[in-house]
Amino acid sequence: MSENIVWHETTITQSQRQGQKGHQSFILWFTGLSGSGKSTLANAVEKELFLRNVHSYVLDGDNIRHGLNKGLGFSEADRKENIRRIGEVSKLFIDAGVITLTAFISPFREDRELVRSLVKEGEFIEIFVDASLETCENRDPKGLYNKARAGIIPNFTGISSPYEQPDNPELIIKTDQLTIEESVKKVVTYLETQGLLSI
Ligand code: ADX
Repeated sequence: MSENIVWHETTITQSQRQGQKGHQSFILWFTGLSGSGKSTLANAVEKELFLRNVHSYVLDGDNIRHGLNKGLGFSEADRKENIRRIGEVSKLFIDAGVITLTAFISPFREDRELVRSLVKEGEFIEIFVDASLETCENRDPKGLYNKARAGIIPNFTGISSPYEQPDNPELIIKTDQLTIEESVKKVVTYLETQGLLSI
C-alpha cells in the first residue's frame, strides 16, 4: 500500500521550532484507569504551562474518539490502533515544537512502549495516574463502572478487560492521595528539574 513514497525532510526543523518557542517539545503520556483523573490532571497541567507561555495541546481519549478515532471500539485490536494513531499524532506535534499531553487509558504496556519507540529518547514521559479501582469505581463520573458491573458495557477496563500498570514510569501521581494542585506541582517540578521548560 505504501509504495513509491519518499520521506521529505522539512526546511524548518524541530529544533528551530523549539528555539522559536523557547522550550523543548515532548509527550506527557498520562495513563490510568477510567476515572483516575488523567484528563483533569492533563488539563490542569496545561493551564499551568499556558500561563508560562508554553505551547501545548491536550489529546483526550473521549474527544479523539469523537473524531479522528471515531469507529474504533474497545476490543484489544481497536485499543491498539487507537494508541498507535495517537502516538503518530503526538510525534507530529512534537515535531511542530508543541508539548503534547495525552489522556488515554492506554491499558497495554506494549502499546505504550510502541509510542515510546516512535519518538526520540527522553521525548516520551510516562505518567502513571494511579488511583485504585475502588476509588475510580466510587467516583464513577460517567456512571460507566455501574454499567460495566451490570454487564451492559463489555470489555471495560478494570472490570472485564485488563489494565497493565507501567513498570518504570517517569512519574507516578497518586490522585487519591494528592490534591490537584499538588499533582500539578509534581509534574511541573519534574519538567523544570529536567530542564524541559527552557532551551
Ligand atoms: S483506550 O483503552 O483505548 O486507551 P480511551 O482512553 O481512548 O481508551 O477511552 C476511554 C474512555 O472511553 C473512558 O474514559 C470511558 O469514558 C469510555 N469507555 C467506553 N467504553 C469503555 C470500555 N469498554 N473500557 C474503557 N473505557 C470505555
